[in-house]
Amino acid sequence: MDLTHPQSDLSLGFSSHASPSHRTQTADDSISLQLDSSLRDPSPTNLTVPPIPLQLLEPQPTETTRKDAAENGNVLDTEFVEDGVEEIRLLGHSMCLKRRRDRESSSSSSVSMSNSSKRASVEPDLEARRSAVRSWGDAPLHVADPDIFEIMEKEKQRQFKGIELIASENFVCRAVMEALGSHLTNKYSEGMPGARYYVGNQNIDEIETLCWERALAAFGLDSENWGVNVQPYSCTTANFAVYTGLLLPGDRIMGLDTPSGGNTSHGYYTPNGRKVSGASIFFESLPYKVNTQTGYIDFDKLEERALDFRPKILICGGSSYPREWDYARFRQIADKCGAVLMCDMAQISGLVAAKVECVNPFDYCDIVTSTTHKSLRGPRGGIIFYRKGSKPRKRGMLLSQGGESDHYEFEEKINFAVFPSLQGGPHNNHIAALAIALKQVATPEYKAYMQQVKKNAQALASALLRRKCRLVTGGTDNHLLLWDLRPLGLTGKNYEKVCELCHMTLNKIAIFGDNGTITPGGVRVGTPAMTSRGCLESDFEIIAEFLLRAAQIASAVQREHGKLQKAFLKGLQSNKDIVELRTRVETFATQFAMPGFDV
Ligand SMILES: Cc1ncc(COP(=O)(O)O)c(C=O)c1O
Repeated sequence: MDLTHPQSDLSLGFSSHASPSHRTQTADDSISLQLDSSLRDPSPTNLTVPPIPLQLLEPQPTETTRKDAAENGNVLDTEFVEDGVEEIRLLGHSMCLKRRRDRESSSSSSVSMSNSSKRASVEPDLEARRSAVRSWGDAPLHVADPDIFEIMEKEKQRQFKGIELIASENFVCRAVMEALGSHLTNKYSEGMPGARYYVGNQNIDEIETLCWERALAAFGLDSENWGVNVQPYSCTTANFAVYTGLLLPGDRIMGLDTPSGGNTSHGYYTPNGRKVSGASIFFESLPYKVNTQTGYIDFDKLEERALDFRPKILICGGSSYPREWDYARFRQIADKCGAVLMCDMAQISGLVAAKVECVNPFDYCDIVTSTTHKSLRGPRGGIIFYRKGSKPRKRGMLLSQGGESDHYEFEEKINFAVFPSLQGGPHNNHIAALAIALKQVATPEYKAYMQQVKKNAQALASALLRRKCRLVTGGTDNHLLLWDLRPLGLTGKNYEKVCELCHMTLNKIAIFGDNGTITPGGVRVGTPAMTSRGCLESDFEIIAEFLLRAAQIASAVQREHGKLQKAFLKGLQSNKDIVELRTRVETFATQFAMPGFDV
């Protein structure tokens, strides 16, 4: 009997509370019953049937209602006879209910769960739509995007087969890579631990707090006197956040000139006066330089300029400076002109953390920034350390870095500059990966690694010097050296290209001429990446030979085709010497396993 039929004359009298039209429809599951309250069944039991609420099916009758119904002579039972059709027995009558399934039930999760198998067949479309979305959400990379997969595989080969000498580069470990490519990228967490814009950040808070603790521990800092922000997406952003937090647009900063080895994020104008970085667009930057004869920072000139210019922030640290930084002298100059002293230790943070015969910038500076992916060997990003607590006094006088208060006021300003002024949600996968790297940084194994980085730089430097090569400043105190190629008659650009074709990567740099002019007459060579692959001093002796052979090839091509780029590049095509050196380089490099991935 179809109770949805309007002509049904089944009248059970249990719907006295039904709507005036006598059509009762449960909101959630679309059961339609046409009921008549006037009982016409001749059975005498009819008269005793009490009204039963129209919760006939949803929810299922409880034990009590079943019992009551049974006791009252009402046998109320429901079972499914086919998908979407229910058979109900009332008073011994068998009836069928057809459920309309045109929308999902929201009234009872238990019912919707028990009906889920039927839902699929009633609306096959629904499951198909669900699995269509799920299928691409779960496809591995080689299936989801074979194009990108293939390029990434080629990049693995390039990294594995080559000799990586770019001083800023390194190879992260497997654990760091696992965190980087993880589900942590799914979460938004604008703000700071305990004060996020979105909810659901309890685990992310734990990760970021742990990262803070490890960052301070890695550099031997205590949380009373130093704070840290681990959210910057890069060191350029970290530096800009410091300026944004502490300065007003147009305020003055002073950093090492880019051609002298500084970084553009410390402010840079091209020789024709073009402002290149945000630091020079939004602030007024005046650079200091290295002495063109010695290659060392010219502190006397720096002091003279700083006292004239009166920068609000004096920046030490750079991208291509092979020698120790005299932070004590920087501190004196900063104090003389009332500047905040900031160190960008991006290149050398690994040496600082491992305390490998290296002066500690934290002993002298108010703010220290860094990349996290160079010698530190963490994921790609930036970090800012700032002093907090009470300021030191000198002969009873308060040093006035960063305002007149007797307490440092960097924390709030820098954190606010990072978010919300310059960035949005932090990259939590990066922060977790950084926490992992910083845990490693605090180990004796990391110290041994950094010691080897430095030994390798010295081995490479002495191998080149023994072969009469000229190095800027005559050597190195850290992980990089600057090779002046002008005595060989080569330009940095041409030499860089030959090395690339021979599968060695390094980068051209400007070298000061005797008359102060600058030409890209050299290359920067660094040891962290190949040390991460297990190279020792004797391996760098071999690398020095490869570098010299590349220089011979470049000279020969230049002699034959000239220095001009177009002709020079043409001369490199199908060059047998390059093919031969490339084979030797690859044979050498592939002896050393890649950390973090298999090839
Ligand atoms: C000293 C210094 N600061 C900042 C940067 C820029 O770092 P990032 O690429 O993370 O912005 C570099 C990059 O080489 C650097 O050497």
